[in-house]
Amino acid sequence: MQEEKEKYRRLAALLEKYHGKAGELINVLHKAQLIFGYLPQKVQICVADALGVPISEVYGVVTFYSLFNTEPRGKYRISVCLGTACYVKGAGSIMEALKENLKVDEGGTTKDGLFTLESARCVGACGLAPVVTINGNVHGRMTADDIPELLERYRKEAKE
Ligand code: FES
Repeated sequence: MQEEKEKYRRLAALLEKYHGKAGELINVLHKAQLIFGYLPQKVQICVADALGVPISEVYGVVTFYSLFNTEPRGKYRISVCLGTACYVKGAGSIMEALKENLKVDEGGTTKDGLFTLESARCVGACGLAPVVTINGNVHGRMTADDIPELLERYRKEAKE
């Protein structure tokens, strides 16, 4: 709760700085997302009010740019590369193994808030296909059988 209050305090300071500056919408949304980790509706409304932009425009920007999230993300963001090189080497079965293990669909976050499952297009590591990145760390030449152990490693790390 205290942490939440602190986030809104930082948002208020940010919005004071950009008050009435509609042209700074993307910049302000980006900064607000850095504070909250995502952009809840309440935050979008605060931004709209402060910058003098209609909420529909804020919503349009947030949904248009994949950079913005409207749902909380997990501590670890797992991204399965579904680019051609990875796909032909079995990225589809890796995605399925992750969905099964984490019990979420693509785009979903696990109930414990630990993992968010996403897909990506080529991440530039085709030589290591198929590739899974976790918070940007590349795990190459993956198989569906490697998934339980990989996730276990991150679950342990989260407890430390
Ligand atoms: S296609 Fe997956 S890294 Fe290039």
